[in-house]
Amino acid sequence: MSPIEKASSLTARKGQNKITALTAYDFPTARLIDEVGIDLILVGDSLGMVVLGFPDTTHVTMAHMCHHTAAVARAKPSALILGDMPIHSYDSPALAVENAQRLHDAGAEAVKLEGGMEQIPKISAILQAGIPVIGHIGMLPQQILSEGAYRKKGRTAESAQKLLADAQALSAAGVCAIVLESVIPDVAATITAAISVPTIGIGCGENTCDGEVAVITDLLGSYPWFVPPFAKPEANLATTIRQAVAAYKRRVQHT
Ligand code: KIV
Repeated sequence: MSPIEKASSLTARKGQNKITALTAYDFPTARLIDEVGIDLILVGDSLGMVVLGFPDTTHVTMAHMCHHTAAVARAKPSALILGDMPIHSYDSPALAVENAQRLHDAGAEAVKLEGGMEQIPKISAILQAGIPVIGHIGMLPQQILSEGAYRKKGRTAESAQKLLADAQALSAAGVCAIVLESVIPDVAATITAAISVPTIGIGCGENTCDGEVAVITDLLGSYPWFVPPFAKPEANLATTIRQAVAAYKRRVQHT
C-alpha cells in the first residue's frame, strides 16, 4: 500500500475497531511491534526523553528525527510510519513542507505536528505537497517550557470549546487523524463524536477515542525514572535488564 492509501485506510477506521498505535525509535522495536499487527508506529519526539536523555522534547532536532525514522523504516513495517515534526521544524509553511519532506525521505509515511487551528496554513502546505498529516491537540509537550508543567486539558468550558473547535478545524483541513493528549475523558469523547476523522488518545481515559497510542517505554516498563500517571505497563523490562546485567557480571567475575 502507498503511504496515502495507508493513511486513508486509517481514516476509514473511524467508528470501526479501535486503532492501535505505539512509539518506536529503532529497527528491532519497530519490527517486533509490526509482527504483532499494530496499526501505526509513531517515531515520536518523546525519543528526546526516553532514548536521548533530555529533560523534555524541546531539545529534539530534525537530525535526531530523521536518524530514528530511518531506523524504523528499515523494518519495512506494514503499519503506517508516522514521523513527529520536532519543535521549530514547522515555524512557517515553507519550513514545514521542507522538513516534512525530509522526514518523508527518511521513511515517514505521514507526519504529525502539535497545535490547533493556528497550524492550518502549515498543515495545508504539507498536504499540498502530498504528505499525509496527523494533528495533535490537548497537552502539547513542545510547550512545556512556556506551560511549566504537564497538565490535563479541557477542564474549563472555554478550554473544552477551544479543543473542539481546533479538532473540527484540523479535520476540515484534511488531517487523516488527530492525537488527543491528556484531554479530560468527557471532552475527548465529545470531540471523538463530533469529528469525521479518528481520534487517537493518550491519557484521555478508556473508550473515549477511536484508538490509543502509548509510548513504548511506558508499556514495557523500561524507563522507570519518569512514568506518566496514565501509563499502564504490561512488562517490567527495567528489572529484567538489571537482573540480566547482574547475572552477566556474576558470570564474568565468577562470584
Ligand atoms: O512523541 C510522542 O511520543 C507523542 C505521543 C505522546 C503521542 O507525541
